[in-house]
Amino acid sequence: MRFIALAVILCAGYFCSTAFAHPRGDWTKLIITRHWPQTFCSVEQCTTNLSYWTLHGLWPNTGMRCNTSWHFNVSLIEDLIPEMEKYWPDLLAPTSPKFWQYEWTKHGTCAAKADSLNSQHKYFSKALELNLKYDLNSVLKNNNIVPSEEYYTLDQVETAITGFFGVKSKIQCVHSGKVQTLGQIELCVDRDFQLIDCEKSSKEIWSNDIPAVLVSSQSDLSVCDHSVPVYYPPVPSRS
Ligand SMILES: *[C@@H]1O[C@H](CO)[C@@H](O)[C@H](O)[C@H]1NC(C)=O
Ligand SMILES: *[C@@H]1O[C@H](CO)[C@@H](O)[C@H](O)[C@H]1NC(C)=O
Ligand SMILES: *[C@@H]1O[C@H](CO)[C@@H](O)[C@H](O)[C@H]1NC(C)=O
Repeated sequence: MRFIALAVILCAGYFCSTAFAHPRGDWTKLIITRHWPQTFCSVEQCTTNLSYWTLHGLWPNTGMRCNTSWHFNVSLIEDLIPEMEKYWPDLLAPTSPKFWQYEWTKHGTCAAKADSLNSQHKYFSKALELNLKYDLNSVLKNNNIVPSEEYYTLDQVETAITGFFGVKSKIQCVHSGKVQTLGQIELCVDRDFQLIDCEKSSKEIWSNDIPAVLVSSQSDLSVCDHSVPVYYPPVPSRS
């Protein structure tokens, strides 16, 4: 009996302390998601000549559409627009703020439960800051992982990322038979914006989160396979 009572107390204490650290429903992790524009536009209705990884989103690990009455207002991030257009472009509709609006409503309103991100300006500027701080483009390039007609192994890509950042990322591909095309890379940070491992759990339901209202085929991305060559498509040369 005593052992059981002790276990109950310890257990309650544990949940109690974690509950204080992160009130129920609050996120513990943010997923910085970048996608490769050439791959995105090979699946979706778009063309792009961008040859750098662009932001797809900054997603808390829990919660979705946490406050639908908190409307996106582009004038609140007016000073960020040039950077937003460069680093977080809507590849489907480059002149529209729709993508940002979608990401704000679905994920930003949940991220905003943390004081550090509790405004639209804080949320979007933090995403831009993290994108540059954890600079995927340079890390890949510096490890000679460049867009090419030659294939890579997933190990090479993983080693480049893990070797530099020191944490596990989640690397997703578009699968098509004997080849897989590099599509999306997630890096994760904790509430202090320090890098931590991303889980590779299939339960992370937003891993394929391309706005359903904007695109058709959202099931195309999934975690890359170690046994299949990886294609990292270059910008098509113009004819
Ligand atoms: C990419 O496309 C844009 C708009 O179509 C154009 O202004 C720009 O010069 C192009 N850049 C390159 C490197 O081809
Ligand atoms: C939702 O957002 C609105 C607008 O910013 C705000 O007034 C309201 O308090 C928020 N609701 C919750 C539950 O946070
Ligand atoms: C958007 O924000 C601006 C600047 O704060 C404000 O003047 C405007 O009324 C807001 N628009 C809407 C639709 O809430």
